[in-house]
Amino acid sequence: MKVLVTGAAGRVGANMVRRLRAAGADVRAMVMPGDPQRAKLDTLDGVEIVEADLGDQHAIDAASRGVTHVVHLAAQLVRGDTPVDRFYDVNAFGTLRLLEGVVKNGGVERFLLASTDGTYRPGDPPLVPLPEDTPQEPADYYGTAKLLGEVILRNHAAQYDIPFAITRFATVLDPVEARQHFRVGSVRALLRRVELGRDCNIWPLFREHPEMVGLFDEAVGEAPDDTAVALSGPNGSWSIHLLDVRDAVEGVYLALTVPAAAGRAFNITAAEPTTFEHGADVVAELDGVPRLDVRLPLTWRLEMTVDAARDVLGYRPRHDFRGMVESAIAADRGAADSFIPARI
Ligand SMILES: NC(=O)c1ccc[n+]([C@@H]2O[C@H](COP(=O)([O-])OP(=O)(O)OC[C@H]3O[C@@H](n4cnc5c(N)ncnc54)[C@H](O)[C@@H]3O)[C@@H](O)[C@H]2O)c1
Repeated sequence: MKVLVTGAAGRVGANMVRRLRAAGADVRAMVMPGDPQRAKLDTLDGVEIVEADLGDQHAIDAASRGVTHVVHLAAQLVRGDTPVDRFYDVNAFGTLRLLEGVVKNGGVERFLLASTDGTYRPGDPPLVPLPEDTPQEPADYYGTAKLLGEVILRNHAAQYDIPFAITRFATVLDPVEARQHFRVGSVRALLRRVELGRDCNIWPLFREHPEMVGLFDEAVGEAPDDTAVALSGPNGSWSIHLLDVRDAVEGVYLALTVPAAAGRAFNITAAEPTTFEHGADVVAELDGVPRLDVRLPLTWRLEMTVDAARDVLGYRPRHDFRGMVESAIAADRGAADSFIPARI
């Protein structure tokens, strides 16, 4: 098996390359030209690194030559000042260019596309947990561009007989990132993003409650950013499905290699969602920070089913939120190298 991994210097990508090497696969790691994060791959033996931008068809054609499998992880995720058309160019047309490269080079045994829970419409009241056949009605341009990538893949796969699989991840975090969740600072940043514009897929939930940011600010007062915070609403605790990057990598590996995965999409997430109640308890306990409870006028829950991945792929997620924070603490002490951090 010779695998082209795109986005190989990314959060999931570097860990994926490591997982594939551990399984004995030959790996061609595709990175953005000039990306300093490619240094993550320096410690991994036997990895061929190629630089290619998903906008550059020539470079993609060359990167696709001679591979038997593709793991397509490269994507535009970060919002900020990124122009909207870039999301479509990278996540939709970039996927098309990669498929064209694969077709020109005679096809592959499996083309794996990483997609997102952001292709499902967030509901209020929420319909959770969401199975794979939930209507895909994304609420922002990132989710829309990722959905277009799925549609383009299905069409090319049918036209050119490319066996494919799609993994729809929940929010993927390395343990160091997970440790910052359920804190005043991270919640404030999320609410600000929603307040600033509609570039965040949960904005429809806030449309009826513009007072939410003010209520949050009032409730937390001068509390330091690292204070643990549990959000709740009329229907109980907020909750979110987080996905440890190590489990994300296992899900992708299975969807890439299990024969019955061909032609299907799989939610890939943790065994259970994390409620803000539980998340705040864990960070307060393990990091010794104070904990606040904030009640808001709605309950947000984003949860997906993992039954298909369990039944068809044999996927068994191993990392819950507490385990993630413990891994981060162990990494701080230099005691663990079970993951490559998202940013070095
Ligand atoms: N992180 C999450 O919470 C999350 C959730 C759901 C789905 N996903 C999907 O998982 C995949 C991996 O995400 P990640 O968290 O590792 O993201 P990441 O941002 O860490 O990695 C993405 C990589 O793609 C590369 N890239 C961006 N534009 C490119 C271009 N034009 N040409 C070549 N490379 C380019 C970046 O340099 C980066 O290394 C993505 O497809 C993403 O849409 C991620």
